[in-house]
Amino acid sequence: MDNNSIPPRLIEGTVVGRTDWTEKLFSLKIQASMMPFKAGQFTKLALQTPEGEWQRRAYSMINAPNEKILEFLLVTVPEGDLSPRLDILQPGDKLYVGQDPAGFMTLDEIPEAARDLWLLSTGTAIGPFLSILADPASQQQFERVVLVHAVRKEEELVYRERIAEIQQRFGDRFHYIPVVSREKVSYALSGRIPQLLSSGALSEFSGVELDPINSFFLLCGNPEMVHDCRDTLQEMGYKKHLRREVGQFTSENYW
Ligand SMILES: Cc1cc2nc3c(=O)[nH]c(=O)nc-3n(C[C@H](O)[C@H](O)[C@H](O)COP(=O)(O)OP(=O)(O)OC[C@H]3O[C@@H](n4cnc5c(N)ncnc54)[C@H](O)[C@@H]3O)c2cc1C
Ligand SMILES: NC(=O)c1ccc[n+]([C@@H]2O[C@H](COP(=O)([O-])OP(=O)(O)OC[C@H]3O[C@@H](n4cnc5c(N)ncnc54)[C@H](OP(=O)(O)O)[C@@H]3O)[C@@H](O)[C@H]2O)c1
Repeated sequence: MDNNSIPPRLIEGTVVGRTDWTEKLFSLKIQASMMPFKAGQFTKLALQTPEGEWQRRAYSMINAPNEKILEFLLVTVPEGDLSPRLDILQPGDKLYVGQDPAGFMTLDEIPEAARDLWLLSTGTAIGPFLSILADPASQQQFERVVLVHAVRKEEELVYRERIAEIQQRFGDRFHYIPVVSREKVSYALSGRIPQLLSSGALSEFSGVELDPINSFFLLCGNPEMVHDCRDTLQEMGYKKHLRREVGQFTSENYW
């Protein structure tokens, strides 16, 4: 590829590691000199087509901000433009990375009053939450943290070792709730996050009670989950958090 033709704000990166979790789910470790980011933010990954067209999409960093190697969790959307091309990258391959991180799903955007943090994710959207939990600030900022990860199949419950490390660091202040929707798994809840919220199942599973004074929610992933959760939370008496008006939840849609 001709370096002179790289669009502004994209820089070259090198794949330095790869993990295949399932046939469609994989992680890439990338070396690139991106600007510093805050846990929970995303950047762009990009490739050029043989015809010269640039394909770029947003991906969340899952490593802690102080780690030099960037890490991303991706799913291959079979009919997608970019993700199947990222899926064939191997260590040593080049790709392009957005120089500037973006996104407001970060610890400094959460109001000081929030005591218990609820991280609600589907699929690959557990990624930014792993970055947040790798940031020591998350341990100081909250009394209790509940990480909910909803996937279709058990094999998609990724990063279990990293979650075990987080559990060790937080002790009984941290609760991990796996949710598997398309098969029965003894240690996981089944169903969908909005229903599990309103039925009280998430609260019961973790032992962390919900209340509009102490609870704060980050919702991330499938836009329908985000939409349904927003409706559910509003029905339960919570409000969207805005900089000008304190609320109890914020969200990020992945598409
Ligand atoms: C802020 C933000 C952060 C993101 N972070 C990640 C990330 O960390 N990992 C990641 O894999 N993707 C992430 N995405 C989605 C990513 O940007 C691409 O949309 C995705 O890789 C598909 O690109 P594509 O060109 O292959 O497919 P496209 O041709 O763009 O097809 C898009 C379609 O693919 C489906 N889709 C897209 N992303 C996902 C997903 N993550 N899970 C399930 N279905 C999906 C939807 O049906 C969507 O309509 C993020 C998106 C946003 C907006
Ligand atoms: N994972 C696979 O085996 C598979 C197979 C074929 C294609 N794909 C491709 O991979 C992409 C990503 O799939 P994914 O499994 O990572 O993501 P996903 O489709 O967003 O599913 C992840 C979790 O979100 C749940 N969910 C879906 N809609 C919801 C809603 N409205 N409210 C609450 N929860 C909701 C799903 O439950 P439900 O199970 O109840 O929907 C599932 O538990 C798909 O878009 C598709 O292109 C994946």
